[in-house]
Amino acid sequence: MALSHARISFHDLQPDAGSFLDDVITGLSQPQKTLSPKYFYDQRGCELFEAICELPEYYPTRTEMAMMQARVREIAQRLGPDCALIEYGSGSSRKTRVLISALNPVAYVPIDIAGEHLKASAVDLAGAFPGLRIIAVCADYSRPLALPDINHLGARRRIVYFPGSTIGNFTVPEAREFLHHARRLAGAGGAMLVGVDLKKNHDVLHAAYNDAQGVTAAFNVNLLARINRELGADFDLVAFRHLAFYNADAGRIEMHLASLKDQKATVGGRVFSFRAGETIHTENSYKYSVAEFQALARAAGFEPEACWTDPQQLFSVHYLAAPH
Ligand code: AVI
Repeated sequence: MALSHARISFHDLQPDAGSFLDDVITGLSQPQKTLSPKYFYDQRGCELFEAICELPEYYPTRTEMAMMQARVREIAQRLGPDCALIEYGSGSSRKTRVLISALNPVAYVPIDIAGEHLKASAVDLAGAFPGLRIIAVCADYSRPLALPDINHLGARRRIVYFPGSTIGNFTVPEAREFLHHARRLAGAGGAMLVGVDLKKNHDVLHAAYNDAQGVTAAFNVNLLARINRELGADFDLVAFRHLAFYNADAGRIEMHLASLKDQKATVGGRVFSFRAGETIHTENSYKYSVAEFQALARAAGFEPEACWTDPQQLFSVHYLAAPH
């Protein structure tokens, strides 16, 4: 997609170059085979994730959205005027629009690994906010990254926005390291606003990742379809089944793809064997209490200064200040 809009610039930090195949081979070579959830989000994966967000069982998106609508004035007051709003994610969400409307930032900087999705979202957003300066960065935000220079835009402070509880898709040590990077990106005097899914009744969690329509299952299996398409692999897509459960000891939902039979698949010239019942671990989705998440944020150098939750205590939004 060409970007001709005067107020949008696009910076491609080439997040995928060479690493997808290496990551898949490394992950499938482990005793517990794994695939990184960051590879869910090809075009089809993004569409399926958007469909998940609309499911009756998947409470996080609508709960966070309702909280943003109810509390956005208060949140915008905390964040302050004339900020640069940096979002980890494409900014296609309605939450981002609610925040931008109330905050009126100097610039909006979405960072996402899915380049075409990022461009499409930036164009949509520019239509909704014609005066907004958008600096879209295609990059893998799970790794440290150097942003294009935004100092000339004259923002008073940087706010890093990470909605959706995507932080839950990192392991706890990864989340701590990620928060460290975010703190560096926010800089002294900046802040982070982050959505975090709360610990809750296990049945509610189980239903959210095992929806009746099978959309989450399709999202999970699409990872193998993507590997087939982009890496020339030959996974038999009907020979794996979606498996998702809450691991209470670890405080996380785990998603796996379970092999329905003894079988082999070839990726990049390497043959991988699967026993019947063996799984590929495709995603963790950690759930935190407010106190657990605040302790994690402190360990990464933030000062947790405010936290909003919904009346049912399903979801939390944290304001973390980056001290001077
Ligand atoms: C993006 N992330 C926060 C979602 C989650 O709930 O962990 C991804 C997801 N996986 C299955 N359903 C939704």
